[in-house]
Amino acid sequence: MAVSVLLPSDNVVLLAEKTRLNQLDGLLAPAELVFLQQSVAREVYSFFFPRAEGCVFVRLLKAEKDPFLAQEAARLAGNELLRELRQYKLETVAIHNCCLEDRTLAFAEGLALGSYQFLKYFTHPEKKAKPLQEIRLENSQVSEAKVKELNALLEATFFTRDLVNEPYSHQGAEQLARALEEIGATCGFSVEILGKEKIETLKMGGLLAVNRGSQDPPQFCILEWRSAAARNVKPIVLIGKGVVFDTGGLSLKPTEGMDYMKCDMGGAAAVAGTLAAVASNNLPIHLIGLIPITDNLIGAGAFAPGDVITMYSGHTVEIMNTDAEGRLILADALHYAKKYDPELVLDFATLTGAAVKALGNQAICYMGTAPKSIKEALEASGMATYERLVELPLWKEYGEEIKSNIADLKNLGSSNAGMITAGKFLEHFVGDYPWLHFDIAGPAYLRTANGYRTKEGTGVGVRLLYDFLKKQYSAPETVNDER
Ligand code: BES
Ligand code: ZN
Ligand code: ZN
Repeated sequence: MAVSVLLPSDNVVLLAEKTRLNQLDGLLAPAELVFLQQSVAREVYSFFFPRAEGCVFVRLLKAEKDPFLAQEAARLAGNELLRELRQYKLETVAIHNCCLEDRTLAFAEGLALGSYQFLKYFTHPEKKAKPLQEIRLENSQVSEAKVKELNALLEATFFTRDLVNEPYSHQGAEQLARALEEIGATCGFSVEILGKEKIETLKMGGLLAVNRGSQDPPQFCILEWRSAAARNVKPIVLIGKGVVFDTGGLSLKPTEGMDYMKCDMGGAAAVAGTLAAVASNNLPIHLIGLIPITDNLIGAGAFAPGDVITMYSGHTVEIMNTDAEGRLILADALHYAKKYDPELVLDFATLTGAAVKALGNQAICYMGTAPKSIKEALEASGMATYERLVELPLWKEYGEEIKSNIADLKNLGSSNAGMITAGKFLEHFVGDYPWLHFDIAGPAYLRTANGYRTKEGTGVGVRLLYDFLKKQYSAPETVNDER
């Protein structure tokens, strides 16, 4: 009997639930189905059947009770398939869906995210390239709009990864500002760049202090997406730490802590990526991104431990450690945000080693003053995108540690709970608006790949923020039942 595979395209992956093999009836030969059944009993869930017309892969997904885990399992399964596609040098694949639609999208998302490569500095990138040209969705109910949305979100995540992966040799402060401008032009949001003169006129003392050891002028970028159909009256402001390279300054970092410090603009990259995703998908919101940019270097004029600086807000700060520089530039941006009378301010930063120590690269720690409903919505988006959040307290007692003998504040607490004292420091500069701070130092950058999170910049923050903004501010209005 001839094997009858009712599949039109060359390479296909059949997605089904492991408990419902009948979903595959008619798609595989009877003997193959028997083989599948026997294998499932041995807890084998992935299969490969070569055909003259192309390869047929089968992926059986476990029926997870928790919908978030189910989505993540589908993403990881998508990423796993990549290994085999590469082994057979296949550049296109169709997903033939036999189970839930959202799993198809998640599977495609994991496959696409895992396929990212950063090759621009190889002399022969084509030798390293393992491209995945196309993922087709067959027989699926997924709407074209959803596919378009996913594509824009993937592209925005890749912009963010590219920005983080770009080395400092090729991406100083001004180059990063220009790169943001280019992304804005591509995706349709505006970018205003304030140069050193303007930053001096404004007296942004935090940003200027960190920049004092540098050859390159600091930059302060203002990104804006304002949909004509914006549902929020007051803007939402995102702030991103843009330290293009962090040597620690005079409080110099050890070699092994410095070699990957090009990633210290991961917050800036996440904010830019979020604006890219929001603008490309035309979300009906008014969103602003504030991005202070500088390197943190040692130079003739570098700021020093013991210095007292005056911030944009007017607060004085005693510098205990020039490596705690991120909070200084973020503080100026938090003060700048006041002029928008924002509905909500969220800042993203690779801020502390303490966050990495506490949670590793699997979670973002966050803290702040926004209402519980916002925190719950963000945590739900964290689970939905698997960019998971853990809240830490901002109890007033932690604030004792950053009191200075000679100035309003000092920029360093004790050696314990450094991510919280950093948050306490920022709190002083927050205006009369709801605010949350996200320390992404752990998940922003990986030395080795982890699932579909490729090595180096992961693009963390973009999928999280997009999901949150979409659900919180642009979901269809709830039906009014008072009739
Ligand atoms: N950029 C670092 C934090 C960081 C650590 C980012 C690991 C990514 C991965 C930040 O500016 C820093 O140096 N923090 C110091 C502060 C300390 C001197 C209080 C830290 O956390 O070690
Ligand atoms: Zn530092
Ligand atoms: Zn830093």
